[in-house]
Amino acid sequence: MATFQPLPGFRDFYPEDFTRRRHIFRVWRQTANAFGFQEYDAPVLEQLELYTTKSGEEIEGQLFSFTDKGGREVALRPEMTPTVCRMVGARAGALKRPIKWFSVAEFYRYERAQKGRLRAFSQFNGDIFGEAGPEAEIELIALLIQCLAGFGLTKDDFYVRLSDRDLWFFYLEALGFNDEQSRTILSAVDRYEKMGDEAFKSYAEVHGAIDAALKERVLGFLKIKSLAELEAALAPFNSGKLTARLADWRKVLSGVAAMGLADFITVDLGVVRGLAYYTGFVFEAFDRKGDLRALAGGGRYNNLVKKLGGPDLPAVGFAIGDVTTGLLLEQRGLMPTFVSAPDLYAVIGGESERKAAFADIQALRAAGYRVEYPFKELAFGKQFKAAAESGAKLALIYGSEELAKSIVKIRDMSDRTEREVPRDQVLAAVRDALAGG
Ligand code: HAM
Repeated sequence: MATFQPLPGFRDFYPEDFTRRRHIFRVWRQTANAFGFQEYDAPVLEQLELYTTKSGEEIEGQLFSFTDKGGREVALRPEMTPTVCRMVGARAGALKRPIKWFSVAEFYRYERAQKGRLRAFSQFNGDIFGEAGPEAEIELIALLIQCLAGFGLTKDDFYVRLSDRDLWFFYLEALGFNDEQSRTILSAVDRYEKMGDEAFKSYAEVHGAIDAALKERVLGFLKIKSLAELEAALAPFNSGKLTARLADWRKVLSGVAAMGLADFITVDLGVVRGLAYYTGFVFEAFDRKGDLRALAGGGRYNNLVKKLGGPDLPAVGFAIGDVTTGLLLEQRGLMPTFVSAPDLYAVIGGESERKAAFADIQALRAAGYRVEYPFKELAFGKQFKAAAESGAKLALIYGSEELAKSIVKIRDMSDRTEREVPRDQVLAAVRDALAGG
């Protein structure tokens, strides 16, 4: 018989996998809540046009898209950003600013299979709308760091690389490049880490050979790793734009430092981000060892809400993926092992005792206790074994002798001590016994 498997790049979540994913989602939600972000969700299927031209060529080529039965061109969402822009744009007038929203959701990209990259994955998305100043960046970078530190990861495990597309454009303009040339250079910078010099080939193809001295300056700029180096590189230019931008940089870095998070963040002009809509600061999180693909990525995208038909609304945000986060937690031994044990196990004599037991089991469950019992009639010995294997803290014993006396025996599974309680006091006795442990 043919056996069916999940499609390549898609995952089944068996209960043990599910508990791991739930742990990740729980930490993300708790963290976002502590930062005052509100949770939202949206459809997994969207109009194809929401992504074409707005997200960028790479994502466009990876869309799971089709024509639905009504003839609509649709796509499974590859990311949340266009959707959240659509939602916020539609109600921007009514929303209290700054708008701080988050979501935990699944996304679909037809990626080439590789470690840390799947075709269905989850992301935490955190975004702020309506704040043009770098205060929004401070808040989001702090949120990103805490979304990872919340698992017990430290500055020795991961870091955030901060860069700036505005600064790149202002710098390239000061060097004499026009807007189109600058865009080509930035896409080369985006690929430089992976491809080296090859990345600049497409520049030569479109705009002709790049002046060697200018290229040196571009390469020098992309290797900048500190604010001091950045200040030094920009010192020769007398540009108001560059000066104002440096002030924003100082604000972001000093804000993050004041939160005690300076060790998590590195200036790194080599990051420019592939997505088409970013306009200013951009950032990515990586594991320190460099074993894994990016943990998270984000940045400012001040034009996207408007491009998608909404008002002119500045925005900045990021997304963390569950796949690389999960891999890093496993690597560092920070993925807890989850024991799934009941509070109580009911040991039941025979069919006639079952009725009495069922009434209590239902009452205990309604009170919030996790109670298990054997579906079929079993010898007491087997039931006690099952109770021990289940990891239950207490066993409730419903034998014919006990019921004849209108009592239930409660056995503490850790030391096997037993005590008798009147049947109408089982709930109170269980509450007492479990309150201590
Ligand atoms: P992104 O860099 O495309 O940004 O994705 C963010 C994170 O999602 C990545 O760093 C990675 O952890 C995870 N991720 C992306 N693709 C895959 C995949 N195929 N398999 C597993 N994990 C993946 C965005 O999606 C932007 N929309 C983020 C954003 C929010 N910008 C502003 N707001």
